[in-house]
Amino acid sequence: MIRRDFLARTLSVAVASLFARNVFAQHSMHDMHGMSGMSDMDDMPGMSPSHPRPPAGQKAAALAPETALPAGAPLAALRKLANESSEPGVFRATLVAQPERRQLMPGHPTAMWLYGDAPQGPTSSRTAGPLSGPLVGPLIDVREGDTVEIRFVNRLPQPSTIHWHGLPVPPDQDGNPTSPVAPGASHVYRFTLPPGSAGTYWYHPHPHMMSAEQVFRGLAGPIVVRAADDPLAAFPERHLFFSDLKLASDGSVAPNDMMDWMNGREGQFVLVNGARRPRIIVAQDERWRLWNGCNARYLRLSLGDTLTFTQVATDGGLLAAPRDGLTELLLAPGERAEIIVRAGAQPAAAVLTAAAYDRRKMTMTKGGSLPADPAKPLADVRFEPGASAAAPAVPATLRPIAPLLSSSGHTIETGSPTPQKSVVFTEAMDMSAMHRPGASMSALPAGMRFMINDASFDPSRIALTSRRGEVEVWSIENRTDMDHPFHLHGTQFQVIARERGGASTAEPFLAWRDTVNVQPGEVVCIATVQRDAGERMFHCHILEHEDLGMMATLKVV
Ligand code: C2O
Ligand code: CU
Ligand code: CU
Repeated sequence: MIRRDFLARTLSVAVASLFARNVFAQHSMHDMHGMSGMSDMDDMPGMSPSHPRPPAGQKAAALAPETALPAGAPLAALRKLANESSEPGVFRATLVAQPERRQLMPGHPTAMWLYGDAPQGPTSSRTAGPLSGPLVGPLIDVREGDTVEIRFVNRLPQPSTIHWHGLPVPPDQDGNPTSPVAPGASHVYRFTLPPGSAGTYWYHPHPHMMSAEQVFRGLAGPIVVRAADDPLAAFPERHLFFSDLKLASDGSVAPNDMMDWMNGREGQFVLVNGARRPRIIVAQDERWRLWNGCNARYLRLSLGDTLTFTQVATDGGLLAAPRDGLTELLLAPGERAEIIVRAGAQPAAAVLTAAAYDRRKMTMTKGGSLPADPAKPLADVRFEPGASAAAPAVPATLRPIAPLLSSSGHTIETGSPTPQKSVVFTEAMDMSAMHRPGASMSALPAGMRFMINDASFDPSRIALTSRRGEVEVWSIENRTDMDHPFHLHGTQFQVIARERGGASTAEPFLAWRDTVNVQPGEVVCIATVQRDAGERMFHCHILEHEDLGMMATLKVV
């Protein structure tokens, strides 16, 4: 690393630490009665006088107000990652992860980490890069049967990987935390998309204990896999990639504070294709692909109580049959969906909103919980139906989905009894360690443990073993006090039933998913099968929890 750059980074880490301390103090004040005076925090270990301090009277801790980012621009289309190959059936491209600056708040450029298709010159000259440009990683738009070959260039100051969230790629091509790409190094990922894999996916970094930070600094991008025979091909498509951004008042990306680590980070801004509250005009019926690329924010999407839409797909592609008449759809972090939004007969307006949702966020006192997340407007939608020709219809059957399990709970493929596996989410909070001065100063905070089957993630440990090709039933039980979205790599699964308080509710429709929310006290049963030998991760997709250990390794033999 070039010295100037190293100094800049050291400085920003020191400032970030100071910043974290102040946010910590602010956030936690009301939960910390009975603690010794907050002035203790001024003598924290590690805060030697040689560290820079913000000038007296300047509140480094303040977050930018919610109006700091301009709103109301037309929704930007996602840029596509260019295919460098002219061979049919081959998609070859380069993805560079690098520091870049963006002018989001007028007058205060934000240093981010972004995916692009070309390096922006030497890392040390990054301050010279363009201040405008996309935030969301380029769309990888490919077809079933394609061989995908992506050269990843890591120009970050940390190791990274690219994980192809939801895609059935070979385990050694899936960007596992045990296969890091060093700063300055590059790596080629190669995989072929099998028939039936059409759907809406995404990619993001997955390095050991640094995934949350790399995603909240901006690294995430969409993938669309298309089928040759798509029954909805006649609908014009719109893409809404949701991400979350937490900015300090000086325009910098705020570091995680204790509450962010405990509950998962939510910024004051939810961006749609990289912009706050864009404007969408719907002139004819449209197919929307939706991605929840937020670290931790749940999106209970709604266009208002009276405006209905039709869900046509989940994470792993089309449903067997459309789900009509929905007024809301919950997308947990990491989840995707496709919906048909109708232009209607009259001009009208609606606000695409993340409605209030209570995921039981905790406080830093034992047993305490925070109020529900309030509703948040995401985009302004105007319906301006034209006098155009008849709209395409949504067929009553979208595609066949074969159940993995028979109604008697046997494996359909072989008729044999299905092996069972149990996954239990637990957490352990050491409140005194969390409240100890300096607890939030380190990269990962003290006092919080998030576990699967009683253990925090250990890269050298195999938690579960499966046989390739064998259908299994997994029960995923949440014994914590808050929601956690369960995610399994390398395959799509079917939710069979959800149990709570001894009562089991069969899942009302068949769908392919790779991420499913599990509420406190709930057990979600899924049927799943892995097709390739190797190591697969499963984890909570609140990325702070994943980094803090709520992840484990499945070995497929
Ligand atoms: Cu989207 Cu293991 O992650
Ligand atoms: Cu994944
Ligand atoms: Cu979690």
